[in-house]
Amino acid sequence: MKKEFLDLGRQPIANAFLKEKDFDDEFLFDLKVVFDTESKLISIKEFVDPERIFNENYPYTTSNSFPMVKHFKETAEMLMKKFNPLTVMEIGSNDGVFLKNWPNDYTIGIEPCGHFAKITNDLGYQTYSEFWTTELSEKIKNDGHVDFDLIYAANCICHIHDLDETFKAVKNLLSKDGVFVFEDPSLLRILERNSYDQIYDEHPHIFSITALDNILINNGLKIFRVDNLSVHGGSNRIYVSHLPVHTFFRFRPVEMSVRENLEKEYDFGLNEFKIYQDFAKRVNKSKNDLIELLTKLKNDGKRIMSIGATSKSTTVFNYCEIDESLIECITDTTPDKQGMHSPGSHISVVDRESVNLNDYDYVFLGAWNFKEVIANKEKDFIENGGKFITHVPEVTVFS
Ligand code: TMP
Repeated sequence: MKKEFLDLGRQPIANAFLKEKDFDDEFLFDLKVVFDTESKLISIKEFVDPERIFNENYPYTTSNSFPMVKHFKETAEMLMKKFNPLTVMEIGSNDGVFLKNWPNDYTIGIEPCGHFAKITNDLGYQTYSEFWTTELSEKIKNDGHVDFDLIYAANCICHIHDLDETFKAVKNLLSKDGVFVFEDPSLLRILERNSYDQIYDEHPHIFSITALDNILINNGLKIFRVDNLSVHGGSNRIYVSHLPVHTFFRFRPVEMSVRENLEKEYDFGLNEFKIYQDFAKRVNKSKNDLIELLTKLKNDGKRIMSIGATSKSTTVFNYCEIDESLIECITDTTPDKQGMHSPGSHISVVDRESVNLNDYDYVFLGAWNFKEVIANKEKDFIENGGKFITHVPEVTVFS
């Protein structure tokens, strides 16, 4: 049974930055969040057709978020050392930041956005520009690929509606001793930090280890290790192998980190509906606090802008009904977002270089997950009396 606990209102596609001429045709949907009492999975109620989201206009490129470039390089080096895989496949390879760390003869990518698939194909990594399905896994087999020793996916598995289908397709291509490693935002960290803005169309599911453990086992796979990461405001990296049902499968012992994470989630109350009802109350308070703060600053004649035109800020601005009357503009390092308007709230997105931060009194951190990086880059703004605003874990002003 699916029980609803949170309503984030009418929302656009979080990454669909747009031109003024397209404002009237913007697609909106109801962003409501539900708890599955059986599997304990958290999902959004109304899924958005993935083709509306992941297409030639999808603007997020990993290579333009430099902390993530470092993260994926280090992840690849760690996986190489730990598992020494010969054959590697990445699901959701974006513009190839992870793929580039592996030899192209033995590495393939899956990327539904054609403009990204072209980049990695041009680099010599065979990339299937398709959504991840069992049908595609069969096609890859028929194309003569051997099974993969490492299947990797970052911020991608939680994008896929049908998890049983997803995991069956992974199992279909995972070598006997292979490892499937994926990382996605952590539900526990979202609840702990009130970061409700990690809920948007691209994240039809928000994963706990508890729910994943239930769903993976049903699909003949098991979690043998979990790393808690700081990226994207707190993610989990989950290591999965085949369930050792055949004697020829090497047994990978389940490491302590799995039990520790399951216990941590249980102790927090992730299995209980009440914890989600409490979260919804905190989210509502966060909205009221943010509106109150921004309105007061504006009434006092202060100027406010935002750094990081993130999907997260799409959720915040639309849920809190914040537009250019409160936040004058957003800067972002991604060229495809610049010159566009933010989804739903229609705030102008510009290049950081075109803005003198000292013209503003306050900067709202749309990319609060890069708080330290941004504060470090913008020391001059702080030295000139500027202040940052964040809503995570609660609405705060700091400098
Ligand atoms: P993410 O939170 O989904 O990774 O997106 C971060 C966005 O913020 C991405 O569009 C790049 C942008 N960004 C900046 O504009 N300035 C920065 O200093 C950093 C680190 C990211």
